[in-house]
Formats: sequence, structure tokens, C-alpha cells
Amino acid sequence: MKKVVVIATGGTIAGSGKKGKSSSYVAGTINVEDVLSSIPDISKLADIEMIQLMNVDSNEMNEEKWETLLHTINSVVSREDVDGIVITHGTDTIEETSYFLNLTVNTVKPVVLTGAMRPATATSADGPFNLYQSIALAINPQAVGAGVMCLFSSTIYSARDIAKKNNFKIDAFGHTGASALGYMRDEEVYFSTRPVRSHTTLSRFSTMCFPSLKKVAMAVYYAGASASILEELARHHDGIVIIGTGSGNYSKSWLDKMNELSLKGIVFVRCSRVNEAIVYDENVFDPHNRFIGAMTLSPYKARILLMLSLSAQDDRERIRENFKEY
Ligand code: SIN
Repeated sequence: MKKVVVIATGGTIAGSGKKGKSSSYVAGTINVEDVLSSIPDISKLADIEMIQLMNVDSNEMNEEKWETLLHTINSVVSREDVDGIVITHGTDTIEETSYFLNLTVNTVKPVVLTGAMRPATATSADGPFNLYQSIALAINPQAVGAGVMCLFSSTIYSARDIAKKNNFKIDAFGHTGASALGYMRDEEVYFSTRPVRSHTTLSRFSTMCFPSLKKVAMAVYYAGASASILEELARHHDGIVIIGTGSGNYSKSWLDKMNELSLKGIVFVRCSRVNEAIVYDENVFDPHNRFIGAMTLSPYKARILLMLSLSAQDDRERIRENFKEY
């Protein structure tokens, strides 16, 4: 029988509240073992080992916890008896954690993140079925080498493209700039495509030793936004992701301030507040080509890639290439 290690981090899947209700609960309060024990015949699917690594609302996730999770995964996947890994996680920041892991875990073994929109104590909680399908995906040979994946509502998403699109339905996820990787029917797996961007063992960040991650902030441009926001952020960060309008745009005063700060060493990545956006290099909003277009990456994921790139001490041109490769 194949072996899966479930690493629990918290979230609504481990949330509890008023019996039967889907609101007014606290995320990350029960052990995932209790969720697992509610799944009929789960022991017939795989040999399952549990690690309750933390039990937090995913809004408490941060760089330090990502590194703890990464080290735990890398040590578990190095075991010969382990075929795949499932991570239970809150849905609020799963986009960021999964993309961080997609770029940093050093394995071809399946790594699947899942969670739930309804707490374990709700009527028709979605966590147990998501967990069941994630375990089935993690032992499926087709999932080997597919990068870090997320599984929600019978849909397999790549960590690079998953995006939370809704905050009240159990089918809360979609994707940016790509299609889902595939679908599931109970424990059966149907891949329809593979990720084309580099990930896991092909990512240079998966073999990198970084003592501590560089600091990257995000700044949202809105009509009338003062450029002093950038000045303030630049005091404590090495890079800034700009969430601009349209094609990654902003005012002349922001452009002037960005030029000034980039000459002092701050690296800027331009993204858009538009849902479906591609932000290219070279634009009237970057006449000197000093900033980097995030392409199809969402601002949250662009921040992860910039953070890793700066931690790897990549220069601006190398970072530009990273945004094309990852
Ligand atoms: C969280 O992200 O931890 C809370 C929300 C959720 O899991 O859906």
C-alpha cells in the first residue's frame, strides 16, 4: 500500500464553531486527525502518517512558517517509504504558500495542498472530501513531477495559477492565465495538461540555501495615491510589487519616485489590479526599462518570486528572466 504523509497547518478544514453552521467559527482549532477519522474507508486508500506541524488561521502564515514547512517537506520526501505529501492549509493564503513551495521543494513526489471553505463542524463540511481526493492524488503516478498542486472541489490546480475567486461558496477557486491541470471523480485522477513553467526540481530555488528571506512589500496604486507610500515602504524593504491599474500603470509622481528609488537599489515589479491581466516589460509607464513586468503572475505570487530572487542575490536582469521562467 502507498504511503502519504499529511502535514497539517490549520485553516477552516480544522475549524470549529456552532454545530451545523458555516459561519462564526475559529479556523485551526481541531486536529486534522479528527477530520481524517470522519472519512469512510480512508485506511483502504493509503497508509497515512500525520504530522500536526502547526494549527493556525492561514492569515498567520509568514516567511518563517513557510521555511519551517519547506524543511519538514524536504525531510519527509527524502524518506523512501513516502510516496506523496498532503498539506492541509487555510484557503486565505494557500495561493502564496503553494507557490512558495512550488519554487522551493526539491522533489518529484506529489505535493498537494488542500483546505475547506466550511469548518469541520458545519453541515456538509467540504474538508473531508477534499482531503480524501488529495490523498488519492498524492499516490497517483500521473501526479509525479507535476509540481506542487492544490485540490478543491474535484479540481486539480497548479500552485502557480490557483487563485481564490470567491469567499462564500465551497467551489471557491479558479486560476489566472491558464486552465486547471485536471479533475477528479472520487479517487480517479484525470489530468488534462501539465505545468509549463519551471517548478520543484527544475527550479533553481529548490537547491538554494537562503539564511533569511529578503523583504518585499506591495503597494496598491489608486487614483490620487501619494508617492510618499513608496518612500515609506522603501525604508524597510528590498523590493516592492506595484499593483497598478490597467497594464500595471500609475501616475507620473509614482513613476518619478519609482525611478528615484530604483536608482538607490529598490527592485520594482509591476502588476495589475485587473483580474485577468498580463503585465509586460517596456511600457510608457517604464520608459527606462528599470522595472519588471510580472507577466501572468498575480501580485501575491509575484511577491514570492521577487522575494526568492532577491534572496538568491539575482540582479535585475536575472530577475526579469525569472519572471519569464517561473
Ligand atoms: C484560513 O485561511 O485559515 C481561514 C479561511 C479558510 O481556511 O477558508
